[in-house]
Amino acid sequence: MSRLRLGVNIDHVATIRNARGAAYPDPMRAAELAIGAGADGITAHLREDRRHISDADIEALAVITRKRGQPLNFEMAVTSEMETIALRHLPHAACLVPERREEVTTEGGLDVAGAHNTIAPVVRRLVDAGIRVSCFVDAVPEQVAAAKSVGAQVVELTTGFYCDAVRDRSPEAPALLERLRVTAREAHRLGLEVHAGHGIDYETVKAVAAIPEVAELNIGHFLIGEAIFVGLVPAIQRMRTLMDEARVGLAA
Ligand code: PXP
Repeated sequence: MSRLRLGVNIDHVATIRNARGAAYPDPMRAAELAIGAGADGITAHLREDRRHISDADIEALAVITRKRGQPLNFEMAVTSEMETIALRHLPHAACLVPERREEVTTEGGLDVAGAHNTIAPVVRRLVDAGIRVSCFVDAVPEQVAAAKSVGAQVVELTTGFYCDAVRDRSPEAPALLERLRVTAREAHRLGLEVHAGHGIDYETVKAVAAIPEVAELNIGHFLIGEAIFVGLVPAIQRMRTLMDEARVGLAA
């Protein structure tokens, strides 16, 4: 089994920067540090309202990640504006996410099944440009099948519901984890690469990392929060260690 990759989402470095309209903290410095700390890629979400990552950030991240030989995972809504930006910068990967102006963060997966005809041509153009396309979906077999049918090579399963349940000590948590496991297996069976992300912290990472079909985790908010207390590099290194520990004992 290949090593579980860690994509570090640096959106909230930009959130802090933008709170003061200053030039710091600099998301590029975070990207450089994250790569140095063992991140296997950098993830950034350019939102329609530019509340954190800016167009200039994406431009700079595309350069830095290329120079450092690490993938940039560009999170984007399915809009013609974002498609144009993706095609201009040609990131290694694009993760298609739902986006609503009033939401605080991405609240759930993209309804790929319900918007098949809108999403399929966008996926085709991105894939034709050499971008690896992922659909961020809820852990529902119908959505995974739809991601396959629109031509995505990857699905990223949202772990947000499971992570919230663990934090709330909800009795639903085991069932939500089981749904992630079953859906990851189904996605893998369909030939999709399986990623997972949203809401992951030190407590929840092990169970998600132990799902054998999962090839990559994307983690942001918790790591940037921890960085305030312990620094970004130790926070990433600890997450990496927990991920590696979770994989010990899984079949090769
Ligand atoms: N994956 C996707 C598709 C996301 O939209 C986000 C949040 O931007 C993440 C992963 C990371 O989530 P978090 O910041 O909660 O770790």
